[in-house]
Amino acid sequence: MSRILVLGASGLLGRHVLDRLVRSQVAVVAGARRPESVQQPDGHHPVPVLHVDYDQPETLRHALSEGVDRLFVLTGGPDGPRHDQTIASLAAESGVRHAVKISALGVHEQGRDPISTWHRAGESAFTRAGLSCSFLRPGAFMSNALMWRTSIERDAPIALVAPSLPVACIDPRDIADVAAQLLHHPRPGVTGYPLTGPAAISPAAQVATLARLLDRHVAFQEVTVKQAIHQFIGYGMSGELAGAVVATMDSPRRGIGHRTYPTVQEVLGRAPRSFEDWATDHLCAFRPDPHQRGVTKETHDPDH
Ligand SMILES: NC(=O)c1ccc[n+]([C@@H]2O[C@H](COP(=O)([O-])OP(=O)(O)OC[C@H]3O[C@@H](n4cnc5c(N)ncnc54)[C@H](OP(=O)(O)O)[C@@H]3O)[C@@H](O)[C@H]2O)c1
Repeated sequence: MSRILVLGASGLLGRHVLDRLVRSQVAVVAGARRPESVQQPDGHHPVPVLHVDYDQPETLRHALSEGVDRLFVLTGGPDGPRHDQTIASLAAESGVRHAVKISALGVHEQGRDPISTWHRAGESAFTRAGLSCSFLRPGAFMSNALMWRTSIERDAPIALVAPSLPVACIDPRDIADVAAQLLHHPRPGVTGYPLTGPAAISPAAQVATLARLLDRHVAFQEVTVKQAIHQFIGYGMSGELAGAVVATMDSPRRGIGHRTYPTVQEVLGRAPRSFEDWATDHLCAFRPDPHQRGVTKETHDPDH
């Protein structure tokens, strides 16, 4: 049997990709470090979920042996290049015919920040393994705005590193749509796909959009790179990851991450969703009073 293995199936993109593949009735198997945290797509037969930990290669080898011929790869952080190396070698060994790997826009735009560097090394591991691959290189996720929920709830100003610089952000649902399309109909060879929304929009303009849709005042304040790193460490991130995330946020200052690309339109034959589309569909997540939310994320998940 020919099956698609979705790695990182408990994460944001993995969950969306799994959902789309199941809805198109493709044979699929989910891989997750914590299988119990994989959300089964509604209204369909349960997807088999296998325990896969990239730090335990035998778990990956086992998952790949389940008739897998296509692979969705989700890695990240400082361990990403090492994990990509493991996944690429085992996938090549087991005869996978196409992999779709999530990378980052900075790779496409010659970014030298840590996240671009990690993904560039990860892409190289797949190329060196001789695999046919689609490297999806998205700009900043629109869903990063969910990090602002606490500030909005507390009526505190949102801390922004480069508030006025436009960012070519993308709705994660569009990334998943492209991934599902390329897993369903792989294009042989190695191709990089820069993925953005329809327009670059500054963080300040994103805040203004949310404020308008929520019909309330939402303030922001500009913070230095150092202050932002400190804040992310306070949320529990390692210093290395916090530095990398903030460097990406600051990259529009170096001319990276603000250009838009027509790739979503080219692959899917439709325009990408705008920030306003994303915000409208996720507005309930920003309502400070749970009673105002009307519906909860659990009962109304716009991502399905
Ligand atoms: N956010 C952005 O603006 C942005 C922009 C461009 C590119 N990206 C890239 O997008 C990716 C993040 O995607 P996402 O938001 O979907 O991530 P996510 O929600 O954080 O999910 C990460 C997934 O990877 C799994 N994972 C982590 N370590 C693992 C291991 N050792 N073995 C097996 N599974 C492991 C996690 O499993 P657990 O649930 O067990 O932890 C989880 O399912 C990263 O590669 C990032 O660089 C992000």
